[in-house]
Amino acid sequence: MSNVLLVVGHPDLSQSKANAALVDAVRELAHVTVHDLYSAYPDFQIDVAAEQTLLAEHDVIVFQHPVFWYNTTPLFKQWQDKVFTLGWAFTMDGSASQLAGKKAVVAVTTGVPADHYTPEGANRAAIETLLSSWLATLRLCQFDIQPMVKLYGTAFGLSDEGLATAAKQYNELLASFAA
Ligand SMILES: Cc1cc2nc3c(=O)[nH]c(=O)nc-3n(C[C@H](O)[C@H](O)[C@H](O)COP(=O)(O)O)c2cc1C
Repeated sequence: MSNVLLVVGHPDLSQSKANAALVDAVRELAHVTVHDLYSAYPDFQIDVAAEQTLLAEHDVIVFQHPVFWYNTTPLFKQWQDKVFTLGWAFTMDGSASQLAGKKAVVAVTTGVPADHYTPEGANRAAIETLLSSWLATLRLCQFDIQPMVKLYGTAFGLSDEGLATAAKQYNELLASFAA
């Protein structure tokens, strides 16, 4: 059975609709540990050793955050900068990192609908393309990158029914890792 670490990078889950709904949908799963970065580190002072221990203890890491300016959120970026250290999270000599082979799922919410994230749409690119530096980081760390979870239109277009469906699918995806 794989255990799952859900690293959440929403600035304030108490004010969130979409990210809170996703987290609430998986919180009760016994094999899932929810790790809310902003509540753990309101001062941005990340405990690198504790974070690396958490990562080492889990087989599947889900990185969930709202898209802010086509990127992760600030504390999530700080977390990457501090936690993904040379020799531990990535290597330059071809040897295995401590993260090698762990499954990584990036789960993002966007304010605007899916048709904005096409070559013809307002953003001129897919979300995977816009988040390519984040995905490259995970690749360098030798994660086994899984398909991205994308919840579009949280500010424009997503209905309560659509959010409930997405939350159910998120529950099913994370539950599937228990097998
Ligand atoms: C500072 C900031 C930047 C944002 N940038 C983007 C963006 O680049 N693309 C986008 O689709 N939505 C953007 N949004 C909208 C957020 O993605 C949206 O508010 C979030 O997905 C809502 O999730 P929540 O209900 O969990 O708070 C931005 C929001 C903020 C506050």
